[in-house]
Amino acid sequence: MSGKLNFCTSAIVALAAVLNICTTPLYAQSIEEKTQVCAGCHGADGKPADKTIPVIWGQKAGYLYIELRDFKRGDRKSDIMQPIASSMERDDMQAIAEYFAAKPWPDLGQPRAPKEVADRASNANRSVGCTGCHLDHFQGDGTVPRLAGLSREYLTKTMGDFRIRARGNNPGMSDLMLATSPDDIAALAEYLSGL
Ligand code: HEC
Ligand code: HEC
Repeated sequence: MSGKLNFCTSAIVALAAVLNICTTPLYAQSIEEKTQVCAGCHGADGKPADKTIPVIWGQKAGYLYIELRDFKRGDRKSDIMQPIASSMERDDMQAIAEYFAAKPWPDLGQPRAPKEVADRASNANRSVGCTGCHLDHFQGDGTVPRLAGLSREYLTKTMGDFRIRARGNNPGMSDLMLATSPDDIAALAEYLSGL
């Protein structure tokens, strides 16, 4: 009886071990490992360590993938991100993009823009049509990034980089930023950060 029980127990243990191999995620584990390094800068809770570092938690997967690809190719220049992305294969980039996109967007607790700033940003949006691509409430979709709730500092920096084509991976965004006055860009950054 006890021998039988023992056999059953070990069979269950063996089965459990097999199931474990099948269901746990050797692959997912390696994604966890591959994304550990990201937390140091992009935040273990999704809140970046520094305000000039973008939020990647809850950002659109298609967009995250394109940025990793562009960092790797050197189309988007960054002394920090280029070496990190350069070791990634296409499948890693896709899996990492989906991993972060599935996380909740962090609340950076930034203040809402005062009315005159919000009005200025709305006028700029009306003339350029940002929401035609970035969608209502600047939530983004697919390869178009969410802008609502990014930090004011990062938004200012990256729009400025587009404007001088230091960020050269999307010439269309650079053209739009060149057609937008620095005052309007400042208002947009303040407004978007408070959404
Ligand atoms: C040492 C700090 C650091 C580490 C580590 C780091 N990043 Fe970054 N990341 C940055 C900075 C800074 C930028 C902004 C680059 C710029 O615009 O010049 C950035 C930008 C990005 C962007 C573009 C986001 C956007 O809104 O355009 C993505 C995607 C990204 N990082 C993903 C990752 C992933 C995935 C990892 C881990 C595998 C990672 N980063 C590790 C600092 C870091
Ligand atoms: C024709 C479509 C289109 C319009 C109009 C547009 N954008 Fe974009 N925007 C994009 C795309 C696509 C990207 C992603 C570029 C890339 O792949 O790096 C982007 C990227 C950005 C980013 C970078 C976000 C990040 O996480 O780094 C900011 C900021 C931004 N846009 C602001 C604006 C503002 C403000 C306006 C209006 C003044 C605007 N955009 C109008 C398509 C558009």
